[in-house]
Amino acid sequence: MHNFVTIEGCEGVGKTYQTKLLRQYCEERGLNVVFTREPGGSDIAEQIRKIILDANNNEMDDMCEAFLYAASRIQHLKDIVKPALSQGKVVICDRYVDSSYVYQGLGRGLGLDKIVRLNEIAVGEYMPEFTVFLDLSPDNAFLRKGGADQNDRMEAVGYAFHRKVYEGYKRLIANDPDRFEVIDASGTKEQTQAKLREVLIRRGVLK
Ligand code: TYD
Repeated sequence: MHNFVTIEGCEGVGKTYQTKLLRQYCEERGLNVVFTREPGGSDIAEQIRKIILDANNNEMDDMCEAFLYAASRIQHLKDIVKPALSQGKVVICDRYVDSSYVYQGLGRGLGLDKIVRLNEIAVGEYMPEFTVFLDLSPDNAFLRKGGADQNDRMEAVGYAFHRKVYEGYKRLIANDPDRFEVIDASGTKEQTQAKLREVLIRRGVLK
């Protein structure tokens, strides 16, 4: 979908910080860009997010989790993404279907095919024009972050899981190289930000 950009990466890669800097850059230049995130991003979707990430919900079935992410995605598309795109705005979304492919499909082991099918139903033609992958292995990411947040159900899940997630992203990129822009995020925050802007300018979504 034209003007729809998603950003992906493992825990601790600095996605939140990078999108914050990017948002400031766009605001300073008066660029019409909508920044949003998943899971959540709108009222109902944020309520679903709370259920998913609540550390007390450790009895949650993996497939239930996958459907909740998809449900949050449907609502967020309706409330935020579709209206903005139809007004000709650029939408930059922190996480989208690729997170479900790798976290639920590969990390949880539900199977990539099943999660791709579920998300086809959820998003239809609303696939990103391209996806930026901030590339930092979980070893480096958790080192940088000082360990996982035990109050976050997804972060607390353990190193082997996050390794599978990282390898999952690499597999998606290998299968669909034209959709992904891979950015090495192992340098300083400023270096990563400069690379991110360069990609978005080259792809014509930022000036
Ligand atoms: P968040 O605090 O937003 O993490 P981050 O800053 O790393 O993006 O929490 C989102 C968590 O949900 C994160 O662990 C990734 C996970 N997730 C999935 O497992 N599947 C999905 O489809 C999405 C969108 C996120």
